[in-house]
Order: sequence, then C-alpha cells, then structure tokens
Amino acid sequence: MDKHLITGGVPLLGEVRISGAKNSVLPILAGCLLTDDPVIIKNVPHLNDVTTIMKLLGQMGANLTISEGLTIEVEAGHVNVPYAPYELVRTMRASILVLGPLLAKHGQAKVSLPGGCAIGPRPVDFHVEGLRQMGADISVDGGYIQASVQGRLKGANLKFDIVSVTGTENLMMAAVLADGVTTIENAACEPEVQDLANFLNCLGAKIEGHGTKTIVIEGVKSLKGGTYTVLPDRVETGTYLVAAAMTGGRITTKSTRANILEAVLHKLEEAGAEISTGEDWITLDMRGRRPKAVDICTAPFPGFPTDMQAQFMALNTVSEGVGVMTETVFENRFMHAHELRRMGANIQLNGNTAQIEGIPHLTAAPVMATDLRASASLVLAGLVAQGTTIVDRIYHIDRGYECIEEKLAQLGANIKRVQS
Ligand code: EPZ
Repeated sequence: MDKHLITGGVPLLGEVRISGAKNSVLPILAGCLLTDDPVIIKNVPHLNDVTTIMKLLGQMGANLTISEGLTIEVEAGHVNVPYAPYELVRTMRASILVLGPLLAKHGQAKVSLPGGCAIGPRPVDFHVEGLRQMGADISVDGGYIQASVQGRLKGANLKFDIVSVTGTENLMMAAVLADGVTTIENAACEPEVQDLANFLNCLGAKIEGHGTKTIVIEGVKSLKGGTYTVLPDRVETGTYLVAAAMTGGRITTKSTRANILEAVLHKLEEAGAEISTGEDWITLDMRGRRPKAVDICTAPFPGFPTDMQAQFMALNTVSEGVGVMTETVFENRFMHAHELRRMGANIQLNGNTAQIEGIPHLTAAPVMATDLRASASLVLAGLVAQGTTIVDRIYHIDRGYECIEEKLAQLGANIKRVQS
C-alpha cells in the first residue's frame, strides 16, 4: 500500500487549481444511463471513484471514451446488463446511484447493497422506500437489491425524514422518466444535488426547486444527449484553504466558487484568516498568525459540511484555545481523532462531540488513514508536525483528491508518495 511521507513546517504559498467535484461527477455519470444519446462531461476529476463508476457503466454495456484529459463521452444506448456487482459497489458506495436510472430507463435493476464503511452503517432504506412509492417492486436478498417495474415508474409525493444527498439524487433521477409529477420534500440542497438537476435539465428533464427543500420533477418521455461541465469541488477547495490556514501561508484556489462553501469560509475567517474572493477564485492569507480555535456543528447544506469536519479538527489541534466539534450527520466520523492523538493532539471525545485544546505544534508519527476525509486531516496534520509523518493506506485519499501530493508540493509542501 502506498504511503505519504510529509515533513512539516513549511507555510504554503502560491496557487492551486481545483478539480471537478467528486460528489457531483458520480451522480452525473450515473445519470447518463437515462439517455440513449451521447453525453459529454467536462471538468471530470481524475479520481479512483470516477474510474470505479466508469468501470461499472462499462460492464453494463455503456461506451465511455476519455478525450483531452478532463472530458469523458458516455454513450449508454447499448446498456443491456442492469447489474451492479458487489465487487465494485463495496469499493464505492455511490454505486447505489445507478439504481434509480436503471429502473427508470430499463424497468429493472440488480444492485448490490453498498454495505457500511468506516464512518457509519450507511443504509439505503430511503432510496428503496422512495422507489417503492413510485411503483417499483423491490426485494433485498443475498446482499442485493432486486428491483423491477411494469411499464414506467409513477410520479409520487415523497418526503425524507432525514436529509439524504444520494437519496435525493437517486429519486430525482428515477422521477425524470416517470409518468406524472414527483415531489420530493425535505430534499437535500447541496450544490452537487443542484449540479445534477442542472445536468438533467440540460438533457431535457423538467426539474424545478433544486437548491430548496422541495424539488418538483415532471416526468418526460425521454432525454436527449448534451454537454455539461461539472461543478468545482468545494471539499477539495476547503481542504487546501485549511492547509494554508494551519501552515500560516497564503494561497489562491482557482477554478472554484465561493458561494458553494460559505459556511466554511465564515469559519476560516472566525479562525483569523483573511479571505478575498472573485468569480472563480478564493485567496486565504494567514501569514504570521496562529489560527484561533473554532466551534463546529455539522449540518446539511447550507450548514457546515460534514465532509470538512475532519479537516477542521486538524486545524483546531494547533489553534489557540479550545474548539468544540459536533458531528450530527454520521454516527462514527471521529476516527481521525485517534490518529491525531498519536501526533500529540489534545482531543476529548464524548459521543458525537469532540473537544480539542490546541497545542503549539504536533509531533510527527506513523498514522493510518481510515476513510477519505480522515486521511485528508492526517495529511494536513503532517504539514505542521515537527518531523516526518508517515500516512499509511492512502488509497482512501486517492478516492477523492486528484494529484494531492503534486498540488501540495506545488504550494511548497515537503510531501512524497512511497510504495510499500
Ligand atoms: C453523500 O453521502 C456524500 N457522498 C458524502 O460524502 C457526504 O458526507 C454525505 O452525502 C453528507 O453530505 C456522495 O455524494 C457520493 P446521506 P450519502 O444519504 O448520500 C442516513 C465524501 O467524503 N441515511 O446524505 O451517502 C445516513 O446514514 C462522502 O465525499 C439513512 O439512514 O449521505 C446518514 O446518517 C462521505 N438511510 C444521513 O442519512 C438512507 O437511505 C445522511 O446521509 C440514506 C441515508
């Protein structure tokens, strides 16, 4: 397994280009199953998760071609195997996103249950229940979801008890080709959900209300092809900005947008960072200053994103004062705390709350990544620790951060990848 070797103490300086959003491109690629016509997706990040879903679509019979690096053409007109095997789904839970499109377009689907992961059991009961309300006949047997519908799915009035990002996305995609109108109440408002809706509307879908708690989808007979550019990754953006704040540097993130991570920017300003923004860039300046500890409570968008919680815990470990962090979305998303403690961090855990008392500096140690965002927080800790930190199992990080060591090295970080 590859490892990262990171020698801390260098303030990050310079510019970094932000890639397309992982959590946008995954549902968008699944959404290509809804049309027989060719679709061109631009600003696609080069990530392991993208490779996985491309493999999955290819196994189903779709043709995928990569042209000039960041662009993929998808032709799903010949899909004839509506099946998502456990071997692929277990490596990427987001594979569940093919369930709605396959049912809507092909009237049947066999999709492996994703299973849990390090941050929680990650059930998909909302997805299954919503499709049942739309007329699907669904059984769960032997670890697989078997779903079918006679004719088309039917529009329905759906309501989530708990906000679910991929739950909203799956049911929105299923509704696009259903007979009649579907309403989704207590829908997720994340920018990635809005990006998916904009993509589907570009193919001829009739979706309104995306970005609010109530989404209305009027089913259409079919979708056409089209070309779409994926939204910038707000979590990648936030991760580099936190890296600059922790190291006392000054960086500009380019090809991104400020209005997709305002809650994160407000917390960085509260920590003492100077932030300036433009149409497609954000600059953070923390030169000569130590961050101040901040309190965080994660929540669905527009609240503070759970995907930035681990990174802010790393920030709080070296900040001035005490920060209290509450994780309200996932059941077990503090795995990084145990590894940060190995680096000297002062963290008290109590259920879904963590209290972090900042210390002047962390000490390098061998640590192990457990999930995608936890591994990012360990890399951030390595950037400020005294000595050389070894982060193991960085295949987690490769799922969601494109070329992270190259991008950090370009900003002056002392980081390299070693095979082991
Ligand atoms: C999406 O996961 C993201 N993944 C996650 O990003 C992100 O952390 C999460 O949304 C919250 O913002 C993708 O978009 C591919 P949920 P998702 O359904 O959709 C419970 C990353 O690091 N729930 O919004 O799986 C669930 O257990 C990843 O990029 C049910 O109980 O999350 C959780 O407690 C990690 N039943 C809560 O809802 C269901 O059927 C929110 O989960 C579905 C969800």
